[in-house]
Amino acid sequence: MPAAPASASPVLASTDWDVIVLGAGAAGLMAAIAAGQRGRRVLVLDHANKVGKKILMSGGGHCNFTNTGTTPAQYISGNPHFCKSALARYTPQDFIDLVDAHGIAWHEKELGQLFCDGSSKQIVQLLLDEAVAAGVEVRTHCQVELPRRSTDGYTLATALGRLECASLVIATGGLSIPSMGATGFGYEIAQAFGHALVPTRAGLVPLTLSGKHQERLADLSGVALDVEASCNGAHFRNRMLITHRGISGPAILQISSYWQPGDDLRLDLLPGRDALAWLQAQQAERPGTELKNVLAELMPRRFAQRLCEIWLANRPMKQLTPPQLHDTAALLQAWPLVASGTEGYRTAEVTLGGVDTAGVSSRTLESQHAPGLYFVGEVLDVTGWLGGYNFQWAWASGMAAGSAA
Ligand code: FDA
Repeated sequence: MPAAPASASPVLASTDWDVIVLGAGAAGLMAAIAAGQRGRRVLVLDHANKVGKKILMSGGGHCNFTNTGTTPAQYISGNPHFCKSALARYTPQDFIDLVDAHGIAWHEKELGQLFCDGSSKQIVQLLLDEAVAAGVEVRTHCQVELPRRSTDGYTLATALGRLECASLVIATGGLSIPSMGATGFGYEIAQAFGHALVPTRAGLVPLTLSGKHQERLADLSGVALDVEASCNGAHFRNRMLITHRGISGPAILQISSYWQPGDDLRLDLLPGRDALAWLQAQQAERPGTELKNVLAELMPRRFAQRLCEIWLANRPMKQLTPPQLHDTAALLQAWPLVASGTEGYRTAEVTLGGVDTAGVSSRTLESQHAPGLYFVGEVLDVTGWLGGYNFQWAWASGMAAGSAA
């Protein structure tokens, strides 16, 4: 039997709270639960019509709730050490234990990525059940104005009236998917209290192509192949999907977090293979077979054909001279694709950049400028790879702040 929504009653028991959490997403709910379990009187406020909207849409509706291989190396931040403390103190196993305790069945898809067998709703329900058990109050549909410092905490003007709290946790997330309730409110609050911001941009996002680059591939929309995408020293081997606007799929989403307009993006179209040795072997074994048909054994036929129409010379293998074979291999192994941009926050899974970690304690997530102010989750300049890492950061940072606030 699902628990009643924590936001059932619009009337608040009090205007004075130990902890107010702004944002009822993954990080905010976790921070609230941790603080509530310590006996703190906790209120969570969200302007959206329901809690955990991104959890609900995550993992294709099955929520990739953690990754068993989580290490700090899978996070992008101006300070790569910042995430270490929180991640070490709340591990993927801790969240798996919670999932198991709630009887939620899960499976590993690939690369340590854990998904619900059922629905993402189960994870939201888990958080709401834990929040109710910890005595946490949650209110949605609640607009909040910029908080102000009071003598012993913070004052908030909200749709529920004027509220006071000793500790204020900012868990308003990033800018990705504004239609789901994303705003830059957390950044405004951070700046108002003297925090620097690391410039934000869309991450884990499809890349767009334009002009002749788009024309050459647009009619292949829907074609998918294995690639290793490389940019600025990062490499991801996974699927690439050609879309009507450009390229997507896990390999592209991953590399998008390392790419900025003008950067050199390379795709290895024969990942894990020595292309030259393979082509030489094909030449010896099938001298009369055309290059496009040889390539079609390792990639979709239509894609192989397009490569041979535009980037490679299609001819029987025996006609390729050693330098041509060499050039063909080089292009296959580092196909340069000129992306024009990204699809932006409209479809991005995450926001890179955010509140500069320099002004925040890595142990408690408390502001070093404003005592009692905490920042958790995606609002901070900590962004994980695709694969459950972002939720693990939300759980871990929420737990760290909720244990201190
Ligand atoms: P989150 O964005 O979840 O929550 C912020 C909350 O603050 C929201 O409820 C919002 O309404 C509220 N808020 C914002 N502005 C406010 C304001 N002005 N006043 C009051 N409230 C305000 N990650 C992963 O690990 N595995 C996955 O499977 C996926 N899948 C995925 C799919 C899609 C489509 C997206 C867009 C993202 C993912 N992610 C993911 C990323 C993951 O969802 C994300 O990193 C976390 O939800 C971040 O959690 P936070 O709690 O920090 O922010």
